[in-house]
Amino acid sequence: MKTYDLRSDTVTLPSREMRKLMAKADVGDDVYGEDATINKLEELAAKITGKREALFIPSGSMGNLIPLYINGGRGNEVLSQMNSHIFHYELASATSIAGVMPVAVKGERGILRPEELEKHLRPASYLMPRITMIEIENTHNREGGTCYTYDQLKAVSDFARKHGFSLHMDGARMFNASVATGLPVKRMCSLVDTVTFCLSKGLGAPVGSLLCGPSKFIAEARRVRKMLGGGMRQAGIIASAGIYALENNIQRLKDDHANAKRIADTLSALEWANIDSKNVETNIIYFATPAHPAEQIVAQLKKKGVLCSAFGSNAIRMVTHLGITSQDVDEVCRLLREVKV
Ligand SMILES: Cc1ncc(COP(=O)(O)O)c(C=O)c1O
Repeated sequence: MKTYDLRSDTVTLPSREMRKLMAKADVGDDVYGEDATINKLEELAAKITGKREALFIPSGSMGNLIPLYINGGRGNEVLSQMNSHIFHYELASATSIAGVMPVAVKGERGILRPEELEKHLRPASYLMPRITMIEIENTHNREGGTCYTYDQLKAVSDFARKHGFSLHMDGARMFNASVATGLPVKRMCSLVDTVTFCLSKGLGAPVGSLLCGPSKFIAEARRVRKMLGGGMRQAGIIASAGIYALENNIQRLKDDHANAKRIADTLSALEWANIDSKNVETNIIYFATPAHPAEQIVAQLKKKGVLCSAFGSNAIRMVTHLGITSQDVDEVCRLLREVKV
């Protein structure tokens, strides 16, 4: 039986061409700055984002933690959307390691707006914590792969600048956002101070993320990465997969979005699923199963070879990626129609 793994885009496997490049990567000790392939990847990431410099890091989580540590700063507050990755999936590292207090801000479908941010401002007082940073997520994972428009991002950016807060973008899937909205990555990144993006999700590399920002910030980030145990040695082998991903796998993300839309359209016609497929902007599909336990549906689909994840008692997430072809989607849609409740 064939398996269609829609649990996450982190399950993507490196292609044969990617592995060939990995096998012949030029490597050295990156802690000494001597890994030519990592240096090339970091230059490429800085060029793509329009930032001065970039740093290769092991994970997206570290890419959020380092700016929280440096620009957030112990004892300060960081404003972030209440369903953001840093709140739910980073084991409270913001508090336990960076020492900042994240503040959960309301945001419609993951998007922060100045009107909501404004409510969390504090008077200057020696009794109160200082807000130092805003963290945004684009695309927003738990809110269903939603994207900021230019105007929405500009509004948050202007707000951050007006109040002297630094603005970090968790752009784990920023290429999905760019491909879906047509907003060029450089223009998107020009509105934030620092940005993290992941190679190991829809782009199909096995591991790694890039943290990009001003030179002074990246110099400090390099120190904090080492402190966190993230200094890597001959990691050019994995960096070369990242170069391959950036050069070959960005434009194809639109196929993942079209596939997600097709799955959402199919779901919207099923009695047991509740979804407005217009809300599926990228490769992440969340739908409700109001009258049926999500776990039971997930288990039934697993028996048919469709893997997906229950979120709470009555919601399911499916994520499309380069391991799922258009023909696979035909089959997934057929199997979804077979579900018995
Ligand atoms: C929006 C977002 N940010 C950050 C991360 C963390 O990435 P990693 O798993 O590489 O730590 C993820 C992972 O799924 C994510 O979805």
